[in-house]
Amino acid sequence: MEHDLITEVRSKVDIVDVISSYLPLTQKGKNYFGVCPFHDDTNPSMSVSRELQIYRCFSCGASGNVYNFVMNYEHISFKEALALLANKAGIELKNFKITEKKQANEVFYKAYELAEKFYQNNLNSSLGKIARNYLKERSLGEDVIKEFGVGLALNGNTNVIDLLKNKGYDLKTLNEIGLANSDRDTYFNRIMFPLHDLEGRIVGFSGRIYDGSTNNKYLNTKETPIFKKGQLLYHYAMAREEVRTKKYVIVMEGFMDVIRASTIGVKNTIALMGTAMTDEQAKLIIRLSKDVILCFDGDEAGRHATMVNGEALLKLGLKPKVIALTGGDDPDTFILKKGKEHFLSLIESAIPFTDFKLKVLKEGVDLQSEEAIAGYINTVITETCKWDDEIRQEIVLKKLAKEFNLEYNTLEKRFQAIKEEQQKEKQHIAPKTYALPKKKRRDKYVIAMHSLLYYMLMSDKIVHKVDREGLFFPSEKERILASEISYYYKKYGIMKIADFYTYLNDKETLTNLLTEVLSLDLGTEVPSEEVDALFKVIKDYNVNLEAKRLEEKMKDEIDPLEKAKYAERIRELRMGS
Ligand code: UTP
Ligand code: MN
Repeated sequence: MEHDLITEVRSKVDIVDVISSYLPLTQKGKNYFGVCPFHDDTNPSMSVSRELQIYRCFSCGASGNVYNFVMNYEHISFKEALALLANKAGIELKNFKITEKKQANEVFYKAYELAEKFYQNNLNSSLGKIARNYLKERSLGEDVIKEFGVGLALNGNTNVIDLLKNKGYDLKTLNEIGLANSDRDTYFNRIMFPLHDLEGRIVGFSGRIYDGSTNNKYLNTKETPIFKKGQLLYHYAMAREEVRTKKYVIVMEGFMDVIRASTIGVKNTIALMGTAMTDEQAKLIIRLSKDVILCFDGDEAGRHATMVNGEALLKLGLKPKVIALTGGDDPDTFILKKGKEHFLSLIESAIPFTDFKLKVLKEGVDLQSEEAIAGYINTVITETCKWDDEIRQEIVLKKLAKEFNLEYNTLEKRFQAIKEEQQKEKQHIAPKTYALPKKKRRDKYVIAMHSLLYYMLMSDKIVHKVDREGLFFPSEKERILASEISYYYKKYGIMKIADFYTYLNDKETLTNLLTEVLSLDLGTEVPSEEVDALFKVIKDYNVNLEAKRLEEKMKDEIDPLEKAKYAERIRELRMGS
């Protein structure tokens, strides 16, 4: 791969822009911070430097340039990352070969696109009249039909099969991607909703009955190599921009809810599509935003889903909010009945999930039974113990005391006892978060080497000085990095740290060391006195090492004359330094 091309593409994209298209970043000082996607975390431990065009995570140590980020985030090869970023930068890659797997997937995406067009045409044809009426009845106008790519699978056994066979697809492939079932179309007589992956490519369909048929309401594409229901969320790619500007995301149960919300301009929404949130989906949601509002159906199932999924997000360190619909409404029917303003006010007044949970806990309590009340009070105290908000804890305990006419102190005592128990339990469970890399007790000379490497990266003058004086780095890793820096300057004239990462790419110990060195953050100015002092520390160390070696030899020497020679050399060494 051509070095020029790699650096050109890299220099045309800004790492801050690229990373913030995947996750929210906030600026603090000259750097940007976000939640590291490469380990389990909720703290903003990843920093991104616009100046150096690199990122690094203080917690798990992940680091690199924009290529490393995209490769690791998207699980793609260097070539694929290059293609993706070149595309972003508007640079055309000639003679560029994508991997076979990727090509196979492209063929799948193409099939879905063709099918989508086909279904859309059906809906507009004379045979689509009943379906069009159905959509009209449901108040879904042409705009949203277009926006969400809604189409129609007509009656017939091989409509889509014939279409795609004509385009060169064989039956086996169509079965593999779920568009055919044996030798028949999978979908017929259904309104078709395309489903997209995280990048916004069509990877499946959900087809809804519309003419009073008694089949399953929705029929979804089976799991295929590119459609894994638990790994995607409806409307994820499309919601991304809107979530970024609104700074929160609304999670719903069904995709009709998302579509309806879009008709009133609420587009920062995604849907789980009727399943419980998987760990993977929870992480995807966090990548969009840490401010999450759950807006599930106003029935028992929806309430249950709110409890389960709210709890899951809570465990991941989020503070989700809840819009609790009632009376069997889902967001779709609520918006239809009550309108835009009313729904917007529900968003405004969304309550913390923890409040919702307390409310739900209370609903089941038999207020006539002392046992039930005591149980309830215990549960509430247990819940409040988990919070990190002391004021809220006190408010809830005071309310409880007043409501059930109890002494505040009694509740407070119970609170402390439960808290202690919880802490004990916590100590037994190994923490799930990554341990911070242990601060190594580092010797003075190691710090000196790293500082010097840092200044070498900042200025070629220092590199020349190191070369000129033949400075020897006493440990191997550092020595190799120093010579790579020097070589890189010679070859490319200037040091661009982000490109240097790519240059070191397959040498992980070196990139790790590079990250460690850069994390010294010594600024871009190179103070020459300090550099001189660093040289001295390293030289002294070398001298000491050599002197020690000679001393050992001297000890083993029997010949007094030779012994004296050693002594003289050691003396000279020590004098010279
Ligand atoms: P709902 O039954 O709440 O659907 O299921 P809905 O959004 O209200 O749909 P309409 O208004 O009746 O058209 C929620 C989600 O569960 C999945 C779908 O993804 C749906 O969006 N689901 C539901 C299925 O996959 N299959 C089904 O048969 C039903
Ligand atoms: Mn519905």
